[in-house]
Amino acid sequence: MRELINEILSLVAPKLQSLGFEEGTWERLVGPSTVSGSLSDVAMPCHSLSPAMRKSPLDIATEISSEISDCLEGIADVSSLNGFVNFSATESWLSTRVENLAPDSRLGVSLDDQRVIAVDYSAPNVAKEMHVGHLRSTVIGDAIVRMLEFKGHIVHRENHVGDWGTPFGMLIEHLLDIGEGEVAGEKGISDFDLFYKQARTKFDENPEFAERARSRVVKLQSEEEETLRLWNVLVNVSTNYFNEVYSMLGVLLTDEDLMGESAYRHLLPNVVDRLTEIGILENSDGADVVFLGGNWVNRDGEPFPVMIRKADGGFNYSTSDLACIIDRVERLGCDDLLYVVGTPQKQHFEMVFEVAKRSGFMNQEHRAVHVNFGSVLDSDGQMLKSRKGQNVKLVDLLREAVTRAELSISEKNPDLSGDERKNVARMIGIGAVKYSDLSSDRTKDYVFDWDRMLSFEGNTAPYLQYAHARICSIFSRSGIGRESTLGTRIQLNTPEERALAKTLVTFPEAVDYSTAGLYPHRLCTHLHSIASSFASFYEVCHVLDEDDEVKSSRLAMCDLTARALSLGLGLLGIDCPERM
Ligand code: ARG
Repeated sequence: MRELINEILSLVAPKLQSLGFEEGTWERLVGPSTVSGSLSDVAMPCHSLSPAMRKSPLDIATEISSEISDCLEGIADVSSLNGFVNFSATESWLSTRVENLAPDSRLGVSLDDQRVIAVDYSAPNVAKEMHVGHLRSTVIGDAIVRMLEFKGHIVHRENHVGDWGTPFGMLIEHLLDIGEGEVAGEKGISDFDLFYKQARTKFDENPEFAERARSRVVKLQSEEEETLRLWNVLVNVSTNYFNEVYSMLGVLLTDEDLMGESAYRHLLPNVVDRLTEIGILENSDGADVVFLGGNWVNRDGEPFPVMIRKADGGFNYSTSDLACIIDRVERLGCDDLLYVVGTPQKQHFEMVFEVAKRSGFMNQEHRAVHVNFGSVLDSDGQMLKSRKGQNVKLVDLLREAVTRAELSISEKNPDLSGDERKNVARMIGIGAVKYSDLSSDRTKDYVFDWDRMLSFEGNTAPYLQYAHARICSIFSRSGIGRESTLGTRIQLNTPEERALAKTLVTFPEAVDYSTAGLYPHRLCTHLHSIASSFASFYEVCHVLDEDDEVKSSRLAMCDLTARALSLGLGLLGIDCPERM
């Protein structure tokens, strides 16, 4: 109710001033009504004004309410209760707002002052399985990218894949042992975790292999041609696999967005030089480190360093992230750097950001945020694993989602057949997986539950998609075109219509609130309230068998609801079928 609050503030200000309320003392008290089930939309608690005004909150609220009613005529009805001034939007104010939304394809969502933003997300590791943490990063990151772009920002998608470092010595040697043809062929690597584990075991148990692996690392670091070629074979099988997952998920990531650790390898010595020049690099047992001091201590209370270059000359994950900051700020001209990475990397990012600030790689104007997220749990509250106790293979998980969705729609709507059914099953299955991830506060762990996420009830993708499809079918059954609702005069005669109207006019603020905090679940919560207000509306309000004016108004409300749902789900990267 942002718009209503702004109108109230500007219209009542002169009056309150004349009553002796000083500017700056009362404005912030006017906010959305927080009492659940309350009939008012906006409230102003007067308790804190009591000492200065030397009156009881009750008297203040009564006085304000009777004095300002007139200036809000036609906008809000004003009353007072228990020291609160309560404002409820009038029918005419609300219906005008709804009418204004109709011709706007953005449904009232404004553009922000443009910033250049790097969103670092997905970032799986080459020659390893993508795990559910990468699924979260991919889905949350993608939604954030879409929301920021919609708000008018320039967004650089950065897929910081783990594709460089000492493990590649043993991985390349293992590749050679198995046979390059095998790996590079049709089948690729069917089990990345197994591949990695086998290489590791040989490295630990077989000194000859370990020796080969070590000298391979040296060759890789000196960029010997044949070694780079073999490394590329591994990178390619992995990125093909990542792409398969991305295309099933329907996320925006492409090969153009690949900017893995290897892409920064030539910049690493430069990081060392710059840190040395600034004078913050210290030598600790032969390694180059930065001590941040202050609270940066390990569990034993000893100073905890940021490792820049190990004693053996190898660089660290942090060094690569520092090079990455320099690149994003200086080459891409980014204002904001967002990292959609699990909560366990919290300290890593805090320390890297701190080093970057102290070294001048970022200044006050830059904003670096670790957009952290919790774990995916199974129904017993354990980390989600496959039946065999391994990491869940994401392609399997996504295929299962689609199969389950197909089963459920074949029961619900036997009319859908062939390709249409397959396509709808994909939208519902994948939508369900994405939405169940996005709809819970990302900073918390969430439970992966097939039945709940695919349910047509509750805060789920199928529930929202179903509301959308239902509206599409109202139009298709009646043969009335959606565009014919444009310019319709809106009437809000029932409480259900008013409730639905409120969720529609507050859609822009939900998008803003969600985008500003980088919390997709806030948008989900709002979309769910649109869909459930629509369900109540549709239960009590007849649409097609009403007289013309009521019918047009209700059809226009239906159209707007469907547009808000599909726009909102679209911002989350979820498709909306027209039939299901
Ligand atoms: N590859 C890392 C992992 O799987 C995530 C990288 C995140 N991005 C970054 N710039 N550090 O944990």
